[in-house]
Amino acid sequence: MKSTVITLDGPAGSGKSSVAKELARRLGMLHADSGGIYRTFTLALMRRLGPCPSHEAFGEALSQSSISPESLEVSILTDGTHQYNLIRGQDQADEIRSPDVTSRIRYVADRPVFREAVNALLRGMTNVVADGRDMGSVVFPNASYKYYLEASVDIRAARRAAENEARGWKEDLGEIKESIRKRDEEDEKREYGALIRTPDMILIDTGPLNLEGVIGRILNSLQIKF
Ligand code: DC
Repeated sequence: MKSTVITLDGPAGSGKSSVAKELARRLGMLHADSGGIYRTFTLALMRRLGPCPSHEAFGEALSQSSISPESLEVSILTDGTHQYNLIRGQDQADEIRSPDVTSRIRYVADRPVFREAVNALLRGMTNVVADGRDMGSVVFPNASYKYYLEASVDIRAARRAAENEARGWKEDLGEIKESIRKRDEEDEKREYGALIRTPDMILIDTGPLNLEGVIGRILNSLQIKF
């Protein structure tokens, strides 16, 4: 049977991940969280490379190494709706969301060898709602339904601050805004797998909408297409 794929792309904090998770739950599909896989490779590399005083030092250490993605023993376990990100068989649910991991991801996401490893894991999943930066453009170009979610930097920063607080991390709002702007630039300028909106993606501005509002828009458009 053909696998149904719904892709949600967009910048950091646009709400993709919460929307993808809830949409997948309602449709009885698997939520494929591509950012979670980049985060897991990044954490595995941080452990392999040992302590680095800054993200720049991590980037430098990575560029001088020849660590293969396979040697990091990153794997994905799924139960039909949820994706578990494992390193050597251990679930890494919380640590992969830390600000230290977030600041180092770009060095990993910029390298084609790691992008290919992430893409291979994603393409092994069926009946998915996949969220990320290049889901509809690169990983699942033939997806049945494609969406692009966006929101202003201010709104996205406020959301990230609330998420951090829920996890017990404190980060200054100004710093979050700055890091979101930087991440937008990195995501848009990346040589491979850059964040782009292709003409076949339906655009949703999540700024004025709550989670239910975004889900409603998507479900309506799915019904029209079915
Ligand atoms: O969605 P997120 O914030 O968890 O993603 C973390 C980072 O991973 C993001 O800043 C860039 C990278 N990423 C990527 O390069 N391509 C994707 N499809 C998803 C994430």
